[in-house]
Amino acid sequence: MLVGKRIVFFVLTINLVSCKIQDVQEKGLVTSKAMVVSAHPLASQIGADILKRGGNAMDAAVAVQFALAVVYPDAGNIGGGGFLVFRKHDGTPDALDYREKAPAAAHRNMYLDQNGEVIPNLSRKGHLAAGVPGTVDGMVQAHQKYGSLPWRDLVQPAIFLAENGFPLTKKEAVKLNEEQKDFIKYNTRRPAFFLKKRWEEGDTVVLKDLAKTLGLIRDKGRAGFYEGSTAELIEAEMNRGKGIITQADLANYQSVWRKPITGQVGNLKIISMTPPSSGGIALIQLLTIAQKFPLKEWGWNSVKTAHVLVEAERRVYADRARHLGDPDFYQVPVAGLLDTAYIRKRMTDFSLKKATDSDVVSPGTPAPQENPHTTHYSIIDAQGNAVSVTTTLNSNFGSKVFVGGGGFLLNNEMDDFSAKPGAPNSYGLVGEEANAIAPNKRMLSSMTPTILEKDEKLFMVIGAMGGSTIITTVFQIIMNVVVHDFPMQGAVNAGRFHHQWKPDWILSEWGALGPFTGLGMWLKGHKIAPKTGGIGRAAGILVLPDGRLEGGAEPRGDDAAAGF
Ligand code: DON
Repeated sequence: MLVGKRIVFFVLTINLVSCKIQDVQEKGLVTSKAMVVSAHPLASQIGADILKRGGNAMDAAVAVQFALAVVYPDAGNIGGGGFLVFRKHDGTPDALDYREKAPAAAHRNMYLDQNGEVIPNLSRKGHLAAGVPGTVDGMVQAHQKYGSLPWRDLVQPAIFLAENGFPLTKKEAVKLNEEQKDFIKYNTRRPAFFLKKRWEEGDTVVLKDLAKTLGLIRDKGRAGFYEGSTAELIEAEMNRGKGIITQADLANYQSVWRKPITGQVGNLKIISMTPPSSGGIALIQLLTIAQKFPLKEWGWNSVKTAHVLVEAERRVYADRARHLGDPDFYQVPVAGLLDTAYIRKRMTDFSLKKATDSDVVSPGTPAPQENPHTTHYSIIDAQGNAVSVTTTLNSNFGSKVFVGGGGFLLNNEMDDFSAKPGAPNSYGLVGEEANAIAPNKRMLSSMTPTILEKDEKLFMVIGAMGGSTIITTVFQIIMNVVVHDFPMQGAVNAGRFHHQWKPDWILSEWGALGPFTGLGMWLKGHKIAPKTGGIGRAAGILVLPDGRLEGGAEPRGDDAAAGF
């Protein structure tokens, strides 16, 4: 039996040889002053126009968020949430948590049947899957603290697109076609604007209800979403679909400014997201481990390099499962997890010769805390302010539920909680007490919006979508630039692989591991599973030595860089 399984994995490994080689030396768009990289060319252009008109990076971030809610509905949103990491031109860092929260009526066992088993799909699709949205409050807070242009000027471009229509890209048409059945099954009012026998590239999409909702947000700010007719529409939708979000939940929602996670690894300073995202902590742990090995000498995705990255990831994700959750509800041992001695100790049972079995890798015991389909966009403005934002509905098109009359999708972020200890969520991630469901709690995230300094100067803005693979995507892109000297675009192009402790296999894009590495890894006892459709979608901006900016736009999506 075991031999049979090994042969299957061997065949898959061999298949990985027949893959196309990514252009890791490709250069992206280079501009001299300012840049936006996002998942959609229209959103990037809107952001770049705001920067050209003298808006700062935060103004552009707000405009891009609302534009993506229209042109990239699978992840861009007003019915979801996200995280924003900011670095002011003088180096001051800040972070905004606009993650969704569990509704007040949520409870620990809400997705379990009478036998204590997880009810399939209940946390993933339909009304019960939605957390209380954070995006609109997040954008209002971001604008109040750092914005410079009038609020309405930042929402208006999105309204224009929703009202007048925009052309579908080929990839978006394919995605909409895939969702037709779920859009009918999970909605209490037919979302006619997205229903069609067959969507084609170039078809125009017009979103009148969404334009109306965005108009209220433009005119009333926070109250345009969390109060009045939009809040009433959300509650009515919940009542029709047996969901639990109430007008009180909406009125109570607040995004939170948090101190970003920072860490120094060699001459790099990492500024990234703090819990309730696991991204920042995991990224710093991974970079700290990787720094101890001569990866440059070993070469990009060689057997030794890939083995070290996978073994580091196995241990870091075991820690994530045990120790990470919403810091407002659970004492996350942040300092303990980031302690260099602790991180190094996690690798003491590591062998360069063979793969470790995930069943014998337990989460570590860091010192306790003494004190109490996602999308990423990166922006740098002409003053050198930088914004790194990852925002999501969770799965593609979230819960698939449109708020009747409101024209926008609700997230299915509740699936990011651990429905039951050890039961995998849609990304195969497991969790324990730290990430159990509780009323008003935020669900643990992997989102990793990050800003890097090199020798105390702004160096890179980076982040990605991809559920559990976000952390390892961001990690590999940083390594590609810092260790292997790829340009920003080449670093984003390069093939990726991923390990998350459980399940115990390496997920690998076709082409990420060449024939020699695939075979070498197999001989060490690693199991490799191919991932069609790519791992993660990233958006990065690199500050070149002469001060110009290079964009890294995701070739796996429709992403585009724009700037001047
Ligand atoms: O917060 C998280 O970790 C997830 N909800 C992110 C979802 C995501 O990246 C979707 N893309 N596959």
